[in-house]
Amino acid sequence: MNAPLTPADALRAALSELLDGLPPSQAARAVDRLIANYRGRTPTDAPVLRDRSDVAAYAAYRMPATFEAVRSALAALAAALPADWSPASHTDIGGGTGAATWAVGATWPEPRPVTVLDWAEPALDLGRELAAGLGVLDGASWQRARIGEALEVERTALVTISYVLGELADDDRRSVVESAAQAATDAVVVVEPGTPDGYARIIEARDQLLAAGLRIAAPCPHSAACPIEPGTDWCHFSARVSRSSLHRRVKGGSLPYEDEKFSYVAAVRPDAVPAPSRITRKPQIRKGQVLLDLCTAEDGLRRETVTKRHGPLYKAARDAEWGDPWPPHD
Ligand SMILES: C[S@@+](CC[C@H](N)C(=O)[O-])C[C@H]1O[C@@H](n2cnc3c(N)ncnc32)[C@H](O)[C@@H]1O
Repeated sequence: MNAPLTPADALRAALSELLDGLPPSQAARAVDRLIANYRGRTPTDAPVLRDRSDVAAYAAYRMPATFEAVRSALAALAAALPADWSPASHTDIGGGTGAATWAVGATWPEPRPVTVLDWAEPALDLGRELAAGLGVLDGASWQRARIGEALEVERTALVTISYVLGELADDDRRSVVESAAQAATDAVVVVEPGTPDGYARIIEARDQLLAAGLRIAAPCPHSAACPIEPGTDWCHFSARVSRSSLHRRVKGGSLPYEDEKFSYVAAVRPDAVPAPSRITRKPQIRKGQVLLDLCTAEDGLRRETVTKRHGPLYKAARDAEWGDPWPPHD
C-alpha cells in the first residue's frame, strides 16, 4: 500500500493537475501579467486576481512558497506552545487559494472548522478545488469578504494573515490586524515578504497585537520592543521551497529549490514559552568555530561564538539553521 501523501506533496500534486490543462505558454503569460500587476502596485479598489488564469498563475507561481513560509512560522508557534495544543478552529483572512490553510493542516493534521475570507471569488473557487483532495480541509468554508472596517471575523482559535498586509491601504491594514486580535481566542500569525517594507508591516502588526493584550510566541524571544534600530536592518527568515518540474517550467530557472524570504509574528493569548534566543542570520561556520547572530531575551542582538571547547553545543551549532531557537530544545 502506498504511504499517504504529505500535505506538501498533495499540494504539489493538486497544482500539477491544475496546470496540466493549461498550456505552458498561457501559464507563462498569466505569470508575467501577475508579476506586472504586483510590481509597483498600490492598493486598489478591485482584486488583482480577476479570473481563472490569474489565480492558476498565482497558485503555480507563489503558493508553494507562501505555504512553506507560513509552515515555518507555524512550526515556531507550535514550538512555543504546549505539545498538546492545536487550533480548534482556523480563519485565514485574505486567504486567496488557501496556502495558509494547507500549512495549518500540515502542522496540525486533525480536522477542524476552517474559514477562508477573500474578496477574489476566482481565488476562493480555485482554493476550494485544490483542497478537495485534502481531508483536513473537508468542509472548509470559502467566503467572499472585503477587508475593511465592516469585516466581521467570528471567534476562532487561530487567525492567519499571510502576504496580505502589503496589498492594503493604511486604514484597512490596521483594521484587519485589529479584527484578527479580537477574533482569536488563542493565536494570530501574520506573515509578510522578508523585505524591509514587509518587516515594517510586521512590526506595526506586532505592536497592535501587544496593545490588544496578546504576547509574542515567535520569532522574538520576548514581548518587549524589537531591538533592531529602524532603517538599519530587518528581521527575516528563509524557507526552502522544493520546485517541481512544473514549477520550474512556470517560473523558469533550473535549480531544484528556491529560498523564500519572509518576516512574521506569532502572538498568543495562552501561556507560551518563546525561544530563549533565535538565530537571526545564516550561521557562519569557520574552522573550529561557529558564529551565531542571535536575538536574545536579555541582551537584544548579539553574536555568540561557539567553539569545539563547548562540546555538544558545538555540534548543535554546526547543525543549527537560520531561524532556529538557540540553544536548541534538548
Ligand atoms: C498575495 S495574495 C496572498 C494569498 C494567501 N494568503 C497566500 O499566502 O498565498 C493576497 C490575497 O489578499 C486578497 N486581498 C487583497 N486585498 C483584499 C481586500 N481588500 N479584501 C479581501 N481580500 C483582499 C487578495 O485577493 C489575495 O487573495
